[in-house]
Amino acid sequence: MPAAGRGTRLGADLPKQYLMLAGRSMLEWSVQPFLIDAACRGLVVALAPDDEHWSQVRSRLQRVPIEAVGGAERADSVRSALQRLQASGVGADEWVLVHDAARCLVTPAQIRQLIAACQHDPVGGLLAQPLADTLKVQAPAERADADPRVSATLERSGKWLAQTPQMFRLQALHDALAAVAASGFAGITDEASAMERLGLKPRLVEGSAQNFKVTYPADFALAEAILGSRA
Ligand code: C5P
Repeated sequence: MPAAGRGTRLGADLPKQYLMLAGRSMLEWSVQPFLIDAACRGLVVALAPDDEHWSQVRSRLQRVPIEAVGGAERADSVRSALQRLQASGVGADEWVLVHDAARCLVTPAQIRQLIAACQHDPVGGLLAQPLADTLKVQAPAERADADPRVSATLERSGKWLAQTPQMFRLQALHDALAAVAASGFAGITDEASAMERLGLKPRLVEGSAQNFKVTYPADFALAEAILGSRA
């Protein structure tokens, strides 16, 4: 689980994974479904080198995850966590699930659904949601202070919003990320995109719109309402 981000888009003092939602930190909500799932044999959390909040979260968990040092980019944090798994003796062909700490609404049922759909797949795959809205391209701005304007509408059919968890074999994912590291992970915003660069076609597993990434203040209120209603 990459959890080394600064979460500046929410505009809070704390990194967003430590903001409180319905009585628990976002990170606690995110790790919990993996810790209680029998199919998940362990969890590695990649943390910022100067993280001051993890020890408090860890003290409240019933299983203690392994810790890894996160990096400058999300992909650096994922690579670091994968290397930690390799160092702990996890086999090259074992499946790993990578999940954003900021997707705190994932459920055990969605995790099992991904595992069931991908465990016999030669590549692996990801939870995703077919695009419901019409997709607009913003026109290049004529002035820096100009309001955004539309230059085009993209075809909506066949487009999906990628979520996490994303499930790939340990060595294959490590090698795919290593292959794009030299470019500073340009254009690599998830694990699947690194696998795609190798010509592979990850499986799309339809998930739930509730598994959104908490990013903006309005997402935060919605996540809190959903978590509160589940409790
Ligand atoms: O910033 P964003 O919400 O896209 O980050 C997605 C996930 O990646 C978050 O869980 C965040 O903590 C993590 N991340 C990381 N290391 C970074 C940047 C982001 O682990 N350098």
